[in-house]
Amino acid sequence: MRMIIDTDAGVDDAQAIMMALASPDVTVEAITTVTGNVHVDKVVPNVLTVLDIMKKDAPVYRGADRPLIADWSPEEHVHAEDGLGNWQNRPNTQRRAESEHAVNALIRLANQAPGQYTLVALGPLTNIALAAQLDPSFPVKIRQFVFMGGTIQAMGNTANLTSEFNIYCDPEAAYMALRVFPMATMLSWETTLAHPMTWPQFEALTELDTDAARFMKATSRVTVELIKTYRYPGYLLPDPLAMAITLQPDLIRQSAEYAVTVELHGTHTRGQTIIDHMARSGHKPNVRVIQKLDIDGVAALYRRMLA
Ligand code: BDR
Ligand code: CA
Repeated sequence: MRMIIDTDAGVDDAQAIMMALASPDVTVEAITTVTGNVHVDKVVPNVLTVLDIMKKDAPVYRGADRPLIADWSPEEHVHAEDGLGNWQNRPNTQRRAESEHAVNALIRLANQAPGQYTLVALGPLTNIALAAQLDPSFPVKIRQFVFMGGTIQAMGNTANLTSEFNIYCDPEAAYMALRVFPMATMLSWETTLAHPMTWPQFEALTELDTDAARFMKATSRVTVELIKTYRYPGYLLPDPLAMAITLQPDLIRQSAEYAVTVELHGTHTRGQTIIDHMARSGHKPNVRVIQKLDIDGVAALYRRMLA
């Protein structure tokens, strides 16, 4: 599998990227970055550091520094100021990002190898929408487009209570992306809530004696505390679940295809994904919505990546 990852890393983004880098059947050929959880100027070094930890190479591109239209502010209560849980004793990286802009890199790669790349988006869809706007052939040249984002039943995780963060952060970009990709795969917030990693599983993994496990333990400290205050029964894995079902589609236990768009207005609902669950709109399905998956299979991918 030839993969491009678009990310706003982000603690769980880092884990998703690690999972892909540890996968023997995948080459991560580009990591494009975007403002989301934190500003892109923090996302870039976070991604470079993940490459250091995993001792892997991939070109990293700096992308959009703000949503298309929406105002932006960082999600520091989730990922902390640095985007990596205010990780103490962070080593310096010698790596540098490429000079090419992420959006140009996306378009160039898709044109160099049409029909070959799997694109996994782990943040707001700003870069993706810009690439499709600059080159309308971009979406059909991508083999498979998977994104973490959206809600199925309007149970969101943002100030707009029905909206999930990645869509809420840049609703116009998400609207544009969903309109132009023939078939996207969506890993929603409710699917995330329904598939936590149990706390004993999480603790066993983060106690492994490897640099990757120590990194995961140190960087997830703030999110673990937050999740525990919400009394969730385990550690939540939004971006890693999207990556896991991409790497191993046999982990999907239930999914369905729907016409999906994004609410751009609404007093309370801007950024909500609107799902035509009764096929009333007359629009063709454009999104495969993942509903159930094999969480033990995901834990096995974590074990491989941390070993
Ligand atoms: C999404 O928002 C971010 O906080 C996570 O990295 C994930 O991509 C979950 O709503
Ligand atoms: Ca993310």
